[in-house]
Amino acid sequence: MTIALITGGSRGLGKASALALASEGLDVVITYKDNIAAANDVIDEVHSIGQKAVAIQLDTADVNSFDNFVLSISQILEAQFNCTQFDYLLNNAGVGINLPFTDTTEETLTTLFDMHVKGPYLLTQKLLPLLRDGSAILNVSSGLTRFCFPGYSAYAMAKGAVEVMSRYMANELGNRKIRVNTLAPGAIETDFGNGYVRDTSEVNSAIAARTALGRVGLPDDIGAVVALLLSDKSHWINGQRIEASGGMNL
Ligand SMILES: NC(=O)c1ccc[n+]([C@@H]2O[C@H](COP(=O)([O-])OP(=O)(O)OC[C@H]3O[C@@H](n4cnc5c(N)ncnc54)[C@H](OP(=O)(O)O)[C@@H]3O)[C@@H](O)[C@H]2O)c1
Repeated sequence: MTIALITGGSRGLGKASALALASEGLDVVITYKDNIAAANDVIDEVHSIGQKAVAIQLDTADVNSFDNFVLSISQILEAQFNCTQFDYLLNNAGVGINLPFTDTTEETLTTLFDMHVKGPYLLTQKLLPLLRDGSAILNVSSGLTRFCFPGYSAYAMAKGAVEVMSRYMANELGNRKIRVNTLAPGAIETDFGNGYVRDTSEVNSAIAARTALGRVGLPDDIGAVVALLLSDKSHWINGQRIEASGGMNL
C-alpha cells in the first residue's frame, strides 16, 4: 500500500494528480479548502478506479490549524489505512492573485506568502514524523518564476520562495532519504484565476502560440508528471525544479 497526501486535491491540478496516482495503484488523502462537494466527487472517482481515498479540510494559510490537521491525518492513517505513515506529499494547494506591481498591497503579499510559502513550510515540518523514510515531497511552483506575465509579481515571488524551500528541504531531508523536488507547471486550463486561461479564448490562443507544443496545458498533463516525479522511477531526481509547460516562452 502506497499513500499520497495531496493538498488542494478537490479541483484542478491536485484532482488530476490524485486520479493519476490512483491509476498507478496509490491510495490518496486529498485536502479541500471550502469545496467539499468537489472533494467528494474526487473521492468517488478514485473509488471507481479501485483505490482508497479520504478528503479532509485544510487552509494552508491557517498555520494555527496545522497541529489539529496533523493529528487528523494520523488518525485517518490508523483508522482507514491501518498504518502510521504515508509515502508522498504533494504541496499543491493555493490560488493566484493578479494585481499590477503598483497596486499590490501588504495584505495581498501576506495572503500569498502565507498560503504558498509559510503554510507549506510549516505544514511539511509538522508532517515529517508521518512521512516514511525514503519517501518523496513535491512542491508546486509555476512557470511564472522563469518568465513574466503582468500582474503576477507577488504570486511569482512566493513561488520563487517555494523553489528555494524545496532545495533546502532536499538538502536537509536527504539524511532520511526523502527526495524533494519542485514542479513548475506552465499555464494549465483549470479554475485558476477564475478560469482565465481556460475560458478566455484570445488568452488561450496567445499562450498556445507561445508554447512549442502549440497548445495550453491540461490538468492531466500535470497529473502524469506528478505521478512520475513522486514514483520510484524518479528515485535519483532530487532538489530539482522541473518545468512542465509544453515549452512555454522558450
Ligand atoms: N493552473 C495553472 O495555470 C497553474 C500554473 C502554475 C502553477 N499553478 C499552481 O498549481 C496549484 C493548483 O492550482 P490549480 O490550477 O489546480 O487551481 P484550482 O483549480 O483553483 O484549485 C485550487 C485547489 O486549491 C485549494 N485551495 C485554494 N486555496 C487554498 C488554501 N488557502 N488552502 C488550502 N487549499 C486551498 C482548492 O480547494 P477548494 O476546491 O476547496 O477551493 C482547490 O483544491 C496552485 O499552487 C497554483 O498556484 C497553477
